[in-house]
Amino acid sequence: MQPVEIKKNIYWVGFVDYDHRDFHGYSRSPDGSTYNAYLIKDQKNVLVDTVAPGCAGTLLCRLAKTLEPEKVDYIVCNHLERDHSGALAEVVERVKPEKIFVSQTGLKSFAGYFAGKNWPVQAVKNGETLNIGSRNIVFQETRMLHWPDSMVSYIPEDKLLISNDIFGQNIASSARFADDFGDDAEFEKRIKEYYYNIVLPYSPMVLKALPLLEKLDIDMIAPDHGLIHRGAKAVRFIVDFYRRMAEQKPQQRALIFYDTMWQSTESMAYAACSGLEENGVPTRLMSVKHNHHSAVMTELADCGAVLAGSPTHNNGVLPLVTAQLAYMKGLRPQNRVGGAFGSYGWSGEAPKYLQEQLASMGMTMPAEPVKCAWQPDRDVLKACHELGRTVAETLKRKCQG
Ligand code: FEO
Repeated sequence: MQPVEIKKNIYWVGFVDYDHRDFHGYSRSPDGSTYNAYLIKDQKNVLVDTVAPGCAGTLLCRLAKTLEPEKVDYIVCNHLERDHSGALAEVVERVKPEKIFVSQTGLKSFAGYFAGKNWPVQAVKNGETLNIGSRNIVFQETRMLHWPDSMVSYIPEDKLLISNDIFGQNIASSARFADDFGDDAEFEKRIKEYYYNIVLPYSPMVLKALPLLEKLDIDMIAPDHGLIHRGAKAVRFIVDFYRRMAEQKPQQRALIFYDTMWQSTESMAYAACSGLEENGVPTRLMSVKHNHHSAVMTELADCGAVLAGSPTHNNGVLPLVTAQLAYMKGLRPQNRVGGAFGSYGWSGEAPKYLQEQLASMGMTMPAEPVKCAWQPDRDVLKACHELGRTVAETLKRKCQG
């Protein structure tokens, strides 16, 4: 349980939670996550962020390997969500800090979470600088990335940005740095997974924040989840990666998500998939029964088109499809082409409903939804193939334009 020195006299003192699966209560973290906290030793010793409820003991033990906890002077709370403030009460009780710094908006969430606590809380202004001896900490508000109270802490003397939830990933591993992880493809997938399930709705704020961060001289970004981006090349990589994800330019790949009762809608999904693939659009077919809603969203990161399928069930769609649509809509994907299909026995509302739902997310819907009574015959499968082809052609034009 050693701290990890990430810069001279700056230590990672967080917690690796290998058992965590349900990040923020809704998003899958397949093999856990980390709650990163950082200790800066200087004339004033500063703890930046804490950890989740139940993890205070580990943080304090790790910290104690390099500094008596009572010698922490300041605590900075870049964001007060429970995964970073759940251990705060225990830490404050032990450390008895001289000051706790939060953003201006953080005062509100602080009052909500810690009502009645007589702690020395102080709000910092956007751009304010705190001198701690040989170093300064500059606070930069990053509202709605991903909470109203979010800010980041920049230490110019170390070219270090402690970036709170931005630039994070859900990875539980003994690696602390991205370059120690050893699997670049998996690392990129985890960045996408985190972005597409947590940050995506705030993409306009990402695009506003990136130029501000790019003005800073940074050679290390230390997020509050997952691995630290070390070195100028790694910093450039993650900033460019974020810009691409936030811009959501169309990509020539498609995602089909569906559920099925007696395999009629599933057969339609496969036919639509062929229509896409045979017209130059690689496609990922995902049954919502077998894929978590987070995994479907992660796949969307690489897809410029989305097709949704469900049989009609009780005048609507199957419940897992309802859940997937609601989840996707809340995450506000932009700039996609859509398509809808589904089978039915008697009433047949599902395809129209799916079409309307995708259109309500701002998707371009180039074809009428495909409907099929009972089970698909040759003509229905041809219609699904044609749906795939039409979506493929529309997407390719969009990608070229
Ligand atoms: Fe990692 Fe928004 O808390």
